[in-house]
Amino acid sequence: MKLTLIGTGYVGLVTGACFAEIGHRVICVDNDAAKVKVLQAGGIPIYEPGLEELVKKNVAAGRLSFTTSTAEGVEQSDVIFIAVPTPPLPDGSVDLSFIEKVAREIAAAMTGYKIVVDKSTVPVRTGEKVAETIKRYCKARVEFDVVSNPEFLREGFAVEDLLHPDRVVIGVKSQRPVPAMKELYAPLPAPVIVTDISSAELIKHASNSFLALKISYINAISVLCEATGANVEEVANGMGMDDRIGRRFLNASLGFGGSCFPKDLSAFIKIAEQVGCDLGLLKEVQKINAAQMDRFVKKISDTLWVLKDKKIGVLGLAFKQNTDDVRMSPAIDLCHRLQKEGAILRVHDPKAMEKAAAVLSDVTFVPDMNAVAEGCDALVIATEWEEFKQLDLERARKALSHPILFDGRNLFHPAEMERLGFIYKSIGR
Ligand code: UGA
Repeated sequence: MKLTLIGTGYVGLVTGACFAEIGHRVICVDNDAAKVKVLQAGGIPIYEPGLEELVKKNVAAGRLSFTTSTAEGVEQSDVIFIAVPTPPLPDGSVDLSFIEKVAREIAAAMTGYKIVVDKSTVPVRTGEKVAETIKRYCKARVEFDVVSNPEFLREGFAVEDLLHPDRVVIGVKSQRPVPAMKELYAPLPAPVIVTDISSAELIKHASNSFLALKISYINAISVLCEATGANVEEVANGMGMDDRIGRRFLNASLGFGGSCFPKDLSAFIKIAEQVGCDLGLLKEVQKINAAQMDRFVKKISDTLWVLKDKKIGVLGLAFKQNTDDVRMSPAIDLCHRLQKEGAILRVHDPKAMEKAAAVLSDVTFVPDMNAVAEGCDALVIATEWEEFKQLDLERARKALSHPILFDGRNLFHPAEMERLGFIYKSIGR
């Protein structure tokens, strides 16, 4: 099939590359000419495992191309995906101006029937607004359908998630676009559910909010574990063996971050308010998440006492493993909090140092994770990179002025760390 993806961010670019991989002809559009130039020259503006190979392979096969022209994309495709950013506004609601602008551009370029699919995460009822806008701005008066087709990929695992989705959700007003949407996803081994547009939009926000709630739930339990001498990991393992609960997203941490959960929670609470519902439960999720970071910072200052002029090594800057994304990263927040107390930071991240340099100043970026502890008073783990588990602990212990390690991601075993001579403080254990 012939598709166009408008927006080449994490979702748009990975979705475009994966659709090309399963045999469709895909045009990716972005209004950022510099970015399109990079993509046309074979460069990838983000770090996402497996993406570069996929893009190269499909560009070479003639199935994937890049342009700045929305009109070109609309003209040459049957299905147009909107995958532009929906950033948060100061009051917690979502800025839908990019979606609205793209809807107008699509409308202006349409000369025949098109399926316009919303992939961006949007508040419920955005589909209705997109349809209204296209109708209003389409001079050619051609028929079209608007579809909500939310994306559930995780950064760092995006290609894998996209090629092996748990489900494909298709929200429609009429049945006309359904066969084409099903054909699009036919090569993927996933159940497809067809709903109305509002339900599809709600499935996305409700899913992300539930996952955030799951993390805050185990984080709340981690506080109880610390107060009673229990071990949150054992509690999570025991809970997770119940199929109805499941073990995933029950990893206690210094809190969740990223460009999705914090923003989607605020947006969901806001949209619920606008229709007269109080999602107080989700406000509690936000509170627990903020408190988790406060507690972690307090743990550090309780142990080190005065932080002014203390040298602290921080491992991890990305908001999670396998990505270079530092948007709303708890690790960056932690660095800022420690700096505010006067601490001097030596930091490392396997992929996110370049992007972190734009938001962190007065830190020493250390290219080798094993050299971070050099001359520090303590070491902190802020991101759950798998490779941090391979840290040379013996070297770190000798390099630290006193062997203190704060683990915000529970990467090591407390008993083993004690055996190695560390004062080891983690979450809920
Ligand atoms: C999240 C969802 O998982 C995706 O399904 C969704 O498509 C995406 O948002 C989106 O809306 O675009 P993502 O933000 O990429 O994906 O990352 P997650 O793997 O969900 O992690 C989010 C945050 O939660 C990270 O800071 C991570 O460290 C933290 N986390 C995750 C925990 O603290 N504990 C856990 O058990 C799991």
